[in-house]
Parts: sequence; C-alpha cells; structure tokens
Amino acid sequence: MTAPMYSIPGSSAPQASAQAQAQTPAPAPGSAACTVGDVLRESQVEAVMDELDRDLVGLAPVKQRIRDISALLVIDRLRRNLGLHAQNPSLHMCFTGNPGTGKTTVALRMAEILHRLGYVRKGHLVAVTRDDLVGQYIGHTAPKTKEVLKKAMGGVLFIDEAYYLYRPENERDYGAEAIEILLQVMENQRDDLVVILAGYKDRMDTFFQSNPGLSSRIAHHIDFPDYAVDELLQIAGKMLHAQHYRFDTGTEDVMRQYLERRIVQPHFANARSVRNALDRARLRQASRLFADRDRELTEHDLTTITAADLQASRVFQNPS
Ligand SMILES: Nc1ncnc2c1ncn2[C@@H]1O[C@H](COP(=O)(O)OP(=O)(O)OP(=O)(O)O)[C@@H](O)[C@H]1O
Ligand SMILES: [Mg+2]
Repeated sequence: MTAPMYSIPGSSAPQASAQAQAQTPAPAPGSAACTVGDVLRESQVEAVMDELDRDLVGLAPVKQRIRDISALLVIDRLRRNLGLHAQNPSLHMCFTGNPGTGKTTVALRMAEILHRLGYVRKGHLVAVTRDDLVGQYIGHTAPKTKEVLKKAMGGVLFIDEAYYLYRPENERDYGAEAIEILLQVMENQRDDLVVILAGYKDRMDTFFQSNPGLSSRIAHHIDFPDYAVDELLQIAGKMLHAQHYRFDTGTEDVMRQYLERRIVQPHFANARSVRNALDRARLRQASRLFADRDRELTEHDLTTITAADLQASRVFQNPS
C-alpha cells in the first residue's frame, strides 16, 4: 500500500513538477540583475538585514548565519538570471535555544528576507505548536495539519517546541501522522513554504535522532545563545527607549543587580524576562504616580523608571 500523497493548495507550483526545473522560481519580471549590488537594490533585502543588526542586541553568530543564507540566495538569483539550472535551495531551518533568546523575532525577519528575495510569495509567518497540528481523535490530525499548512503556504511555518510532535511513549499518538504530512510538504512544496522548527537544543537533538527523515530535510541549524547580563541590560535599554521610558540616574545599576539575581533563578527566560520585569516596573511607576492626585506630572515624571520601581520586585526580597 502506498502512502497517501499530500499536496496543499495555494502553492505556486503543483506537486507534480516538484522535481523539475520549474521548481526554481522565475526571475523577477524584467530583472536584468547581474551584480550582487543589483539584486540587493532590487530586493531591498539589505534593509531587513540592517534592521536585524540594529534592533537585536548581541546574537553575532545568528546574524552571521542569516547573512550567509542571504548571500546564498542572492547568488542563486544571479545564477537563475543567467539561466543556470539548479534545484531550489533547501531552506527549512531549525532554531535552537532557550526561551526568550530571539527565535521568533529572527524567524519573522527571515520570512521577510525570503519574501524580498522571491523565495516565498507572501512572507508571512504562521507560528504553531503541537496542539495546532495534532488532533485528539482518529481522523482529526490530517485535516488540522493541512489547514495550518494551507495558511502558511507562501510564507514560513514556525513550529515551536517541535519535539512535542513525537511521543514515543504513546504508541497511538497522532503526532506521527502530522510529521508524515509535514515531511511530504517540506519535500514537495519547498518552493513555496519554508518550515522553521524551534525549541531547546538537547530535546531537538533527541527528536532528530528519532526522526532522521525530518532531520535530513533541515538545511540550516542555527543555535541561539543565552544573553550575558550586559546584553540583557542593553536589551532593557532598547525596550525602554522604544516605549518612551528611561531609567533614572543610577537605576541602570539596580537593573544590573536585578538581572544578576534573576538570571540564576528558575524559569529565567532571557529577553522575555527583561520585558516582563520592565512591564512590572511600569506598573509600579504608575501606582507611585497615581498615589498623588494633585501633583502636576511632568514628562520627566511620566517617562522615568526609578530605582524603587525595580527594588520592589520579589527578586530583591528573596535572598538569592
Ligand atoms: N537580541 C535581542 N535584542 C533586543 N530584543 C530582543 C532580543 N532577543 C529577544 N528580544 C525581545 O525579547 C522578546 C522575546 O523574544 P522572542 O519571542 O523572539 O524569543 P523566543 O526565543 O522566540 O522565545 P520563546 O522561546 O519564549 O518563544 C521579544 O519581545 C523580542 O523582541
Ligand atoms: Mg518564540
């Protein structure tokens, strides 16, 4: 018995031509690009890479990998413009790292880069977890997975904590069915859908060992390192600035102490923990200002996070 073949509508190329040269996207209409500079100008892809450099603190190895992948795609475009035959480069990726290390943020930028260079039609990102793909009853998984794939066609499907798709301890688990469908679509419709699997590195490694078919279809493994305290401080500065807040004089030092304590506590989630800490500091600032009804609040008052706004945190109460 042959396995059913899945084809998700909405793809720019029918499955039947998956192996053929037709899989290679056509050059941009009227594109006479023959230098790297031409492609960069036409695609405006450098603006996204510059934004990535500017907006994201640290992550040097990640940024370098994104540049390498972009270079591959730019050269691939130039080759295409000369009519040189090649299969579409395989672009499925795996982003490993702890929570809050920027995986989702970078995946969004990656989707934009792929779109600008013509590798996906729309450039949107559909982020899902196991529950979005796998049903609870027989017959529910295939339609669920196919619905998600349909939504993601023309863009990036981002599967967070992808290893939960595979539960070897449960022999009647429907995750395997979702993986089977994903595998086929990753192979046959890779001209119009890029899949990014994300999660913790050790769990992902184990998952790939049990699912070599999936592992072999992932062309790029990118590891997101944890941030150092200095980087977390810079991230805090960027987040505050973006929301028109600032630290009072001396408050950055308190934030540093906060981070040094928080980083060794359970459930620390890198930049996400920074965002949460700042959200709570803003709440305290608001309560502090709210308490005095008659004082005229200046712009300085309204934008300043003080040392006390941070020091009220639980992190300073519990001895660490
Ligand atoms: N290097 C960075 N510079 C500035 N902000 C960052 C950086 N990394 C992450 N952030 C911010 O931290 C928050 C969490 O990042 P993101 O959601 O991308 O992480 P994640 O790795 O996907 O985390 P999770 O595993 O929890 O989903 C976002 O608000 C993001 O903008
Ligand atoms: Mg995420």
